[in-house]
Amino acid sequence: MNKKISHSMNMNEFEVLTGFIYRKTGIRLESQKLYFLNTRINKRIESIGAESIADYIRVLRFADPNGTEFQYLVNLLTVNETYFFRDFPQLQAFAEQSLTEVVERKRSINDFKLKVWSAPCSSGEEPYTLAIILNAMIDDIDKWSIEIIGSDIDQNILVKAREGVYDERRLRDVPPEYLQEFFKPLSNGMFKVNQNIRNMVKFEHVNLSETNDIRNKVGFDFIFCRNLLIYFDDDSRKKLVDQFYIALNKGGYIFLGASESMSRISTAFRVKRKGGYFVYYK
Ligand SMILES: C[S@@+](CC[C@H](N)C(=O)[O-])C[C@H]1O[C@@H](n2cnc3c(N)ncnc32)[C@H](O)[C@@H]1O
Repeated sequence: MNKKISHSMNMNEFEVLTGFIYRKTGIRLESQKLYFLNTRINKRIESIGAESIADYIRVLRFADPNGTEFQYLVNLLTVNETYFFRDFPQLQAFAEQSLTEVVERKRSINDFKLKVWSAPCSSGEEPYTLAIILNAMIDDIDKWSIEIIGSDIDQNILVKAREGVYDERRLRDVPPEYLQEFFKPLSNGMFKVNQNIRNMVKFEHVNLSETNDIRNKVGFDFIFCRNLLIYFDDDSRKKLVDQFYIALNKGGYIFLGASESMSRISTAFRVKRKGGYFVYYK
């Protein structure tokens, strides 16, 4: 039987690797993440048969022209925690105030188009939640052309998102009447999002740190960027938020996570206080 070899990463290797990851993704891994990164790198070393951490770094930097190995590594490093109706009070403020306001304004000028971006979307709970809210809130939804984009850097998690199948833990905050209306229980105890909701969401692989990936993203009425900026440093946050400003329509709203704020990042957005929340708009 082969003995599993575990390679220990030194501080210099940690810095080279985290610098590389930061430049490519905007994600800053602090030194307390050394063990976390070390275990993930060992998985990749084993998979590709590299000889050492230094050898793996060499592959990543000089022998990975299409970024394939880097993508495998990213898929192991991302924190994908999410669930349906996460931060319910914020979504309620979105539904009852911002959404209602934008829908009424657009209706009054016969503009029946809405564009929403869940960036990043992880396994899809957030964009599907938004699709459910739009269905519940817009009476004449059949008249509207609605585009909801869910994007993420992690390709494995996007496969899960497209499947749209979830266990009860991810559904714990779904109001019972919505669970009944928008999900189908499966024989294995899981729930599948109904086809009409799945049809409203398109998933895309996007690196939010890569300007080329997001410069064609424009015309959004709502952008949700929740629970990502906490993993970015100030520079990557600023760069991304500047792009979001361009991507938003005038009068459009951007929602950040509960522990994230625009202060120190951007003064471009206007701010309102709604239901105890700061909401930012253009
Ligand atoms: C904690 S989840 C947030 C999901 C959802 N917005 C929510 O609040 O529940 C963070 C997601 O950010 C993604 N992510 C990290 N860096 C990214 C980048 N540079 N571009 C796109 N997505 C990224 C991760 O793959 C992960 O799925």
